[in-house]
Amino acid sequence: MKFFIDTANLDQIKEAQDLGIIDGVTTNPSLMAKEGIAGEQNILDHYKAICEIVDGDVSAEVIGTDFETMVKEGEMLAELHPQIVVKVPIIREGLKAISYFSKKGIRTNCTLIFSSGQALLAAKAGASYVSPFIGRLDDISSDGLQLIEDIRSIYDNYDFDTEILAASVRNAMHIIECAHIGADVMTGPLSAMVSLLNHPLTDKGLATFLADHKKLNG
Ligand code: E4P
Repeated sequence: MKFFIDTANLDQIKEAQDLGIIDGVTTNPSLMAKEGIAGEQNILDHYKAICEIVDGDVSAEVIGTDFETMVKEGEMLAELHPQIVVKVPIIREGLKAISYFSKKGIRTNCTLIFSSGQALLAAKAGASYVSPFIGRLDDISSDGLQLIEDIRSIYDNYDFDTEILAASVRNAMHIIECAHIGADVMTGPLSAMVSLLNHPLTDKGLATFLADHKKLNG
């Protein structure tokens, strides 16, 4: 399973890249705003800076909600860097845009997926990735991981090429369960990825090893 980091923070992206555990980055307009990135040129420069840090795919989201604007924005984003994947919301005009981009060889990430029907439509339109938001479903007492399982089964029935990018990942168990189910990618904060390291027996074992070494070596 590929690991993408879900942030627009350059320091966190660098930190994750240095750990050698990430295969790409996802951003969204809220994450860009959180970093204070505003204005077209600054936004484009920031995406470019992210692409220069990581080797893998970098999702950059369109803001327009009509076909023409999405196409204009998406083409501009795709031209920016070969690693850019154009992120498009699952709305009627978005489907049209995904289908257009797919025919032009521009890769897309269909976002804000909350049902298997939406994921099926995105795959039919030719999305490269679909992003089901598992944490936000859990937040409303729905089962986010069940959605990943449903989409996996539907895509496997028909051999769709669209990759399942489990998004809105919040914790280590989300990551483990996504890996069990067979999500192609997961995206989440660095803290969730790093928490996979934690095990009390590792801490206890290391403390004992170091203490035993110290007894003889000082
Ligand atoms: C997906 O690409 C989104 O950027 C993201 O995963 C949303 O996560 P959140 O629910 O933690 O905001």
